[in-house]
Amino acid sequence: MSIIFNQEDKRFLLETQNTEYAFSIAYDRFLRHEYYGKKRDNAINYFKPIVKPFSVYNEGSGYDYSPTDSFLEIPFFGCGDYRCTALRIQGKNGDSCTFFEYKNYRIFKGKNKLKTIPCARSFYDTETLEITMYDKVTDCILKLYYTLFPDCDVIIRSFTVENKSDASVLIKKVMPLCLDIEGHNFDMISLYGAQANERNVQRSPLSIGSQSITSRRGASGHNFNPFLALVGKDTTEQNGEVYAFNLIYSGSFLDEVEVDTAGNTRVSVGLGEENFKYTLESNEIFESPEAVMLHSTEGIGDMSRKMHRFIRNAIVPETINDKKPIVLNTWESFLFDIKEDIVLKFADEAAKYGADTLVIDDGWFGKRNNDSAGLGDWYVNKEKFPNGLKSVAERVKSTGLKFGIWIEPEMVNSDSDLYREHPDWCLRVHGRIPSTSRNQLVLDMCNPEVRNYIKKSLLNVFEGVPLDYVKWDFNRNLSEVGSYYLDATKQEETWYRWQLGVYELYFWFRETFPNVFLENCSGGGGRYDLAMMALSDQIWTSDNTNAGDRTLIQYGSSIAYPACVMSCHVSNPGNDENSIKVFNNKFHVALGGMLGYEYNIIEAEQRIKDEMLKQTELYRKVEDLVKCGDLYRLIVPIENDLGVYSYCYTASEDMTEKAWERILVTYLQTFGTDNDIYFSLKIPVSDENAVYTDVLSNEKYTGKELKSGINIKATAYDAFSLIYYFKRCEE
Ligand code: GLA
Repeated sequence: MSIIFNQEDKRFLLETQNTEYAFSIAYDRFLRHEYYGKKRDNAINYFKPIVKPFSVYNEGSGYDYSPTDSFLEIPFFGCGDYRCTALRIQGKNGDSCTFFEYKNYRIFKGKNKLKTIPCARSFYDTETLEITMYDKVTDCILKLYYTLFPDCDVIIRSFTVENKSDASVLIKKVMPLCLDIEGHNFDMISLYGAQANERNVQRSPLSIGSQSITSRRGASGHNFNPFLALVGKDTTEQNGEVYAFNLIYSGSFLDEVEVDTAGNTRVSVGLGEENFKYTLESNEIFESPEAVMLHSTEGIGDMSRKMHRFIRNAIVPETINDKKPIVLNTWESFLFDIKEDIVLKFADEAAKYGADTLVIDDGWFGKRNNDSAGLGDWYVNKEKFPNGLKSVAERVKSTGLKFGIWIEPEMVNSDSDLYREHPDWCLRVHGRIPSTSRNQLVLDMCNPEVRNYIKKSLLNVFEGVPLDYVKWDFNRNLSEVGSYYLDATKQEETWYRWQLGVYELYFWFRETFPNVFLENCSGGGGRYDLAMMALSDQIWTSDNTNAGDRTLIQYGSSIAYPACVMSCHVSNPGNDENSIKVFNNKFHVALGGMLGYEYNIIEAEQRIKDEMLKQTELYRKVEDLVKCGDLYRLIVPIENDLGVYSYCYTASEDMTEKAWERILVTYLQTFGTDNDIYFSLKIPVSDENAVYTDVLSNEKYTGKELKSGINIKATAYDAFSLIYYFKRCEE
């Protein structure tokens, strides 16, 4: 059993393979957090009286428990905990003092599925602890959930609030994960960025007081990702303590780390309170998103590998083992100037050189000749596609390719039939003109009529079209967040209710088009979060396909997310004497994720197309390693300042093959240097006596040689990269 309740000391002990999480019931009503971290030999905690001036004691507690100073399992607003709290509910009396008492618990195999929000699913020996608490003032029931994924050392937390009273209550703050950790000798790692510059890695020491990362955009966003880690001061890629956190949600979020003046750390992850409110009606149940936590003592690399394994098995669609499409996308070649004859020529070439899916990007519908018109009008543009979508799709498919298309359902241009007919269907507040971004407005996804319109239009436009792939885009963030559909009293709830509307549309889409491969996008990777990973098959990582920039973006992304979600396109290599070098360099970078192409194959030189065929053949041989394998970051920037990265992929526990039978290694340099660079790539193979052949060069190596390091001489130009593909052989 990985979840145990010890009756004697009223302690819950949650054990994963390498970690332990403990909390106990104090005075039959409070939940006191005790410990989270590496498994301990002696799991008993003793609590001393807290006799500090200004400490608060709740009714029924003794002096060894105070919400002001104790470690709490779920801190409530307003009853003596002055740190950041996890739940705030305003009842019918108007105050928002929140206080639930422990009632009982239940342990069950597997986990519950959330109804309104994407969530993790169970695998192997997943087990859940449910704790029930009750508040007599608001007559609400709170259920805390802890789901263990023992093999990945992951614990997921979430809660539900059920209103049993006959009056509504207002939920004002929701943080499903709140963790008190002793001490504060940590660095915080977060991922920040911008459009075309996503997920840079920031590492900074914790300071006394509060530090946070947040999105107030109505989308997880390019700027801050919900992933957060606390690492020991001496933690490296290979060694040291790491606590990692994430949230399965795509809207505004808050990750807060507060170091109190006693020197202890509280981490909380959730929806926050700035862009969140929810009226819970009588007999209604509110479900929080799920938050993820993971602990490792073996460095950032081990944390990433475990997180990746968790995401592959519990988050992304179960079709992960199917071959991923190798897409050729029209966007970077033609932008909005896309026409039937171009698409057909494109398809003919793509089919000959290794792509297997042709994707028509933006520009095919309504009056969409640039980004200022057409969004919302989901009918085919007959000037560009005179024979309709069905015909073009069938003709693309007759070349042997699959057919894909771009949509952006949550948006509308004011220059569109939809907006002219329904100006009240976009997010807006009374008395103000809604602001534009990329010339577009956001549809009011709280309104079921709007969702129905989108569903009907997609059904209409795709009727009879043999659709294999959809790229679902989202090219701005929310502003003037109000809804003409909701009452005045619920305007501030628009943020959250809008997000629920988006999820309802996604759930519908996946059910209605079960065989369509769904690629998520938000101006590149602006919704690169676990909820979107649960809803789609992969995510367009960034609009930036420059090899050097991409290497950094993919490095940051790999800290928290696996290669199977990372869509990576090889783009225009230019046509000078360097084009083959540039094309292969972009390919080596793209091997960090799921391969695709985005260049004008009609105008490309023959040698580029021949190279593309070779690349796609190699990719198909290593796709499973990249997609489902374990990732080792062999050289990362914290170990050098030369902009050099190196990765190695080998089979993971969730594959049928043994680790270290095949190994893919890439070496990537992000900028040129004055002199050649020398590096030793140490590959952590398990068996020193094994013999390997690099099938790309036919060179042989022993396991010992790989382990002690293969020597690399990198030349000084900036598009330098190398690739090795080792296979274990008989002797
Ligand atoms: C976004 C996407 C691009 C492309 C354009 C189309 O910017 O990230 O890949 O689809 O929209 O307008």
